[in-house]
Parts: sequence; C-alpha cells; structure tokens
Amino acid sequence: MKTRYLVTSALPYANGPLHLGHIAGAYLPADIFVRFKRLCGEEVLFICGTDEHGVPVTIRAEQEGKTPQQVVDFYHAQMKSSFEHLGIGFDNFSRTSLPVHHAMSQAFFLRLLEIGAVHPKTEEQYHCTRCSRFLPDRYIHGECPYCHDLRARGDQCEACGKWLDPKQIVGPRCALCGSTPVITGTRHWFLRLGLFQEKLRNWLDSKTQWKDNVKEFCAGWFREGLGDRAITRDIDWGIKVPLPDTDGKVLYVWFDAPIGYISSTVEWSLKQGKPDLWKDYWQNPETRLIHFIGKDNIVFHAMVWPAVLMGQENYVLPSEIPANEFLTIEGDKLSTSRNWAIWVDEYLAEFPPDPLRYCLAANAPENKDSDFSWKEFQNRNNSELADILGNFVNRTLSFLQKYQDNKAPGIHSPDEADRQALGMIEEVTRKAGEAFAGFEVRRGVRELMELPRCGNKYFADKQPWATRKTDPMQCETTLAVCLKMITALAVLMEPVLPFAAADLKRQLAQDDLFAGILWEDIPKLAIPPGKPLGSPGILFRKIEDSTIQAQLDKLHAMKK
Ligand code: MF3
Ligand code: ZN
Repeated sequence: MKTRYLVTSALPYANGPLHLGHIAGAYLPADIFVRFKRLCGEEVLFICGTDEHGVPVTIRAEQEGKTPQQVVDFYHAQMKSSFEHLGIGFDNFSRTSLPVHHAMSQAFFLRLLEIGAVHPKTEEQYHCTRCSRFLPDRYIHGECPYCHDLRARGDQCEACGKWLDPKQIVGPRCALCGSTPVITGTRHWFLRLGLFQEKLRNWLDSKTQWKDNVKEFCAGWFREGLGDRAITRDIDWGIKVPLPDTDGKVLYVWFDAPIGYISSTVEWSLKQGKPDLWKDYWQNPETRLIHFIGKDNIVFHAMVWPAVLMGQENYVLPSEIPANEFLTIEGDKLSTSRNWAIWVDEYLAEFPPDPLRYCLAANAPENKDSDFSWKEFQNRNNSELADILGNFVNRTLSFLQKYQDNKAPGIHSPDEADRQALGMIEEVTRKAGEAFAGFEVRRGVRELMELPRCGNKYFADKQPWATRKTDPMQCETTLAVCLKMITALAVLMEPVLPFAAADLKRQLAQDDLFAGILWEDIPKLAIPPGKPLGSPGILFRKIEDSTIQAQLDKLHAMKK
C-alpha cells in the first residue's frame, strides 16, 4: 500500500535572501527525500512558504527604510524564484500573510483558549523610553545567560540554541538605539506548555529512531520543566489576537509560523479545486508528517508545535523531524550580519544548480556542522561530477555514436567482469535507496557515485577501443553493460541531480522506457538492442581556478 507523506521545510523568514546554510539544512535534504519517495511510488506532498511576521521582518524593514509589507513582498518573490531555479520542487510555496493563514492561526489560538491551554496574565516586559516602544524578542540584544555569547537576542541565543525570554538576557540593550530598557507591566496570553508535559514526554519517548540532536534537546527541556510561554506580542505587524480590547496585540511569530504548514496545504487544496483535500493529510492518522528543519528550530518543532497540535482536534503529530546542523563557510561561522555567506541568487547567476546540490548533499551537515569551501566545490564538480560521472556517461555514449551507429548494443555471453558490473546496479540501487529513505543524504551520494566509479574502471579494463577490432561481440557486450549502468544512473541520480538526470534522459532519448519508472525497477531498466539513442553531450562543465578565485575574492571583499 502507498504511504502518504506530508513533507515540510521550515518556512524561511521573508527578511533576506536565501543563503547556502538554508539550502543545506532544511531544503535540499527535504527535496532529495521527496524526489526519492516519489520514485518509490509513494504519495508525497511537499509544502513550504515564507514566514512573514515577527520581529525579524520589522527590524529588517526599519533597517531598509521600508514597510514590512514591502520587505516580505520582495523576499517572498525572490525566494520563490531561487527555490525554483535550484530545483527545490514544493507543491505549494505559500505566505503567512495570506488571509487563510490569519484565519487558521486565530482559530488555533481560540481553540487553545477555550480548552484552557492558553490564558492571559500580566507580564513584565522591556520598554525603551527613548524609542517609546515595547521591546519583544529580537528588539533586545545582550549576553546569553547560558553560554555567555554576547550576541544573544531576546528570543534565542544562536550560539547555544536556547530559547530565551528577554528578561533572561544579561545586560539587555535596545536593538534600535542601544539604550538600556526599563521593565513595564503589560497583559499577554500564555501557552501553558506544562499541561502537555506528560503527553509530550510519552510521545517523544516513542520516537526511538529519532536523531540524537532532537532527543537530547528535548530531554534538556524536560529537566528544566515546561512553563508558560507568552504567545502574543506588542508590535503592529502580525496576526491580530482575535479578542476585543487587546491594544492591537499580535500573535507571536513562532505561534503562527508552523500553522503556515497547514494553511499552505489549505491553499494548495483550494488551487486543486478541492477545498477539503488538506484534511486528508492533516487529519488522517495514516499521514506521515515530516518536518525538515535546521537545529535552531528544534524546540519549536519538537515541543511547542506538537503541544499546539495536541490542543486541537484530530491533527496528526510529526512522525519525523530531521534536524540538520549548521553549515560553515570557508571554515568560519556563517553570519548574515557580517555578510559572511554565499547567497543563492548570486550563485545561480554564475553556476548551474546541480553542482551546488551535489556538493551540499555530499557534505550535508547531518550529524555535525560541515563546511562549504569554494575549493571543495570546484573539486567535487571537476573530479567527481565531470571526471567520474560525466566522463563515464560521455565516453560510453560517444563511443556508441562513433562506432555502433548510435544504437543500443546487446549483451553476448557475459563473463565474470560483465556480470559483476551488472550486479553493481542492483547493489547501488539498494544501498542508495536505504540511505535516502533514512535521511542519510551523504551516504546516498557516496553509494550513488560507486556506479560511475566502477563503470569507469570496467570500461578501462575492458578496453572496448581495442576489442572493437579484435572481438566485436565482446566490445558490444562491454558497451551494453555500460549503457545499462548509465540508464540506471539516469534515474538513480534524479533525487540529487535532477537537471543532469533530465539532460541524460534526453541524451538517451527513451521516453517510454523512463515513463513511470519506479526505484525498485531500476536494475531491470534496459534499452532494447538496436534502438537508436539521442545525441551525447557534456553533463558537467569543469570550473576554472580563476572562476573560483573570483568567488573567494568576492566573499572576502564583501565581509563586514
Ligand atoms: N522562519 C523560521 C526561521 O527561519 C522558521 C520557521 S519554521 C515554521 O528560523 F515552523 F515556523 F514554519
Ligand atoms: Zn531604543
């Protein structure tokens, strides 16, 4: 029976361009998983959208001298286009500013209020006299009370990942003017996480296969005990608290954002002309809900969000939360404020998408932080994609074009080496499949590359350029084996290298053969002998040293 997957990637804040850290963490691994599962014949819906509320957006607007609306409109469009050009194929890329999302978030809030899981109380809050405004979340800067990093913000310390209350910050300062804020009392609504403590603990305990980073993070939280958390804020950008006389308070961005996964699904249903279709996912116990996130989002997805869902009626809970670690750039912590980052739109202006996908997948920050360097990028492109994969494909297809009338050859009395090479197809299909199914993108890439690696060795050992004259039958067999490997590769590489896979399929020109192909059938794929092939081309172009040097120079020159 088909499994129904609902896969989400963290909704990026529409407050700046996408960088490589985003892609490596929550988007590429999700896209690879989705493409793989579709090839397995599973039913998959892939959902995302921009996170358009909260202090991250209003601060950006203030910095740029724009309105929050202008900021989110701009970055929503830019991100949508970056994702498309990178081949990150969401079924729907929504926005949390849509009316359907506002309505859904307000309904979630009211439901929690009704069951007593949300209640109002007066809270002490920082206020800046000079700016005459409240200072929620990131409007406070200072020292983290846990790890003492000096760049902590009121809501979270990025250095240690702790979710903070602004009042915990040591030496608080106003992020706008730098002055020291004063504490004032104001009424807010709180989510009573403690009510869900036992349910959450039992649920998390049942997730034995989850990665350690998520389980350990939650264990730490339970030790401290789950208290009340304010889910409303005093800013004028966001979703209004749906109650009378609230002085224009809005919902906290981390309350409404994950609900965006649902409202994006609702928007998708509406576009399908089936307004209730989203319920088949969100309210169907058979759905496997998978949230791909970066590690800074663990607490919200593994604790707060499941509690919010538990407080509603009939919603599924996440079945997996693959949380990735961080990507560093040239050995240094990625930082948007210091402009130490590689921006996706700038990358795409100069390079094709697949080499980046490949490099980030081969070196994904799965279990620990990993580093992106331009040299490694060049190396992987030149000596892996071009020299191994591209070369194997090209030497085979060019040979066939030149000496075999550009037609698929047949296999004649295969020897041990031929059989071994054919056996590789099955082995790689199985091993890479296991890796992709288990969110192990790095291993999947490694397994995948074993096929062209062995293919090149087999080609060299068999010397078809010599047997062409001495033993034409053997020559044909060699090429038929290579072609079978390449035909398999056209499908195997699709999750990681979708553009090159499409290109390769064009070069093979066997549309019927590939139509509706399933992963498990890859080893059976064979182009019937005598069938004409398409025209061979170059799958991956090499990247010059000077091109890489220019990127390095630019990176350093832009650093603040
Ligand atoms: N916008 C948040 C960030 O970039 C992620 C939000 S994920 C969601 O860190 F759950 F809220 F959708
Ligand atoms: Zn101030």
